[in-house]
Amino acid sequence: MANLKGKVIIVTGAAMGLGLAAAEVLVSKGADLTLVDYNDEALNKTKEELVLKFPDRKFLTVAADVSVEENVKNYVYQTVKEFGKVDGLYNNAGIEGKQAPLVDYDIDVFKKVIDINLLGVYYGMKYVIPELQKNGGGKIVNVASVGGIRGVLNQTAYVATKHAVAGMTKNAALEYGKDNILTNAIAPGAILTPMVAEAFRQVNPDDPKTAEKEYASRNPTKRLGNPEDVAHLVAYLLSDENGYVSGQVIAIDGGESNMYGNS
Ligand SMILES: NC(=O)c1ccc[n+]([C@@H]2O[C@H](COP(=O)([O-])OP(=O)(O)OC[C@H]3O[C@@H](n4cnc5c(N)ncnc54)[C@H](O)[C@@H]3O)[C@@H](O)[C@H]2O)c1
Repeated sequence: MANLKGKVIIVTGAAMGLGLAAAEVLVSKGADLTLVDYNDEALNKTKEELVLKFPDRKFLTVAADVSVEENVKNYVYQTVKEFGKVDGLYNNAGIEGKQAPLVDYDIDVFKKVIDINLLGVYYGMKYVIPELQKNGGGKIVNVASVGGIRGVLNQTAYVATKHAVAGMTKNAALEYGKDNILTNAIAPGAILTPMVAEAFRQVNPDDPKTAEKEYASRNPTKRLGNPEDVAHLVAYLLSDENGYVSGQVIAIDGGESNMYGNS
């Protein structure tokens, strides 16, 4: 049972999907949260819902694009101003980009995916780590993907950036373990969020539900993951119960990434 009482945690991409599910679980375990997203409207709606469900907890919202360094600096600054410290970062905001074979991949989309998925995660660590050092330590969970440990057809930019997240995670763990900072990445398989719903629309615009069913049938568990499945792993990694897991890229995918050949 992860206990997060008294912890201040920053969640990026908090307005929906994995970020929102994690925010609910983190707050239910006692954390106060800074909720970061560039979708201002959805972010405020999320905050309103969380305040209703958890009236005793504190929430700060900061509208920010994680690919803009000054925005990242600001969400960390605002967090320290409001709560006096940072204990953890859930470095989750990311985009898929458009699906296309490597040769045909739109370079502007490619660069945008790099800016958000790679630089956004890097900036988050760059500005949070000094605050964790001041605080005597803390925890970082970066969001990679199964695409950070395997190839995924038609997703070169996404796969490149998620491998980069896995690499940066290992380096941060090596460089800041001495400061009592444990850094890990999670590598989710297909989890049913708005991002994945859009991916199925790209695969089969006329019948995304069939694309979803076909995808799920290849998983050993014969289902997609739920955002809550991921949220509980994140809560553990950010809690004091995690005393020694660091530098890992932890798959959460129903076992699918171990499969070779046909299911
Ligand atoms: N859902 C999955 O199956 C899955 C699998 C592997 C990895 N992931 C990763 O998990 C993370 C969350 O994915 P999701 O499925 O919840 O996606 P989602 O699209 O449902 O939600 C992502 C949230 O991040 C926000 N966001 C995107 N870019 C941003 C930016 N530049 N600045 C601030 N906020 C930004 C969006 O507004 C949105 O609220 C991503 O990094 C994604 O690559 C998801």
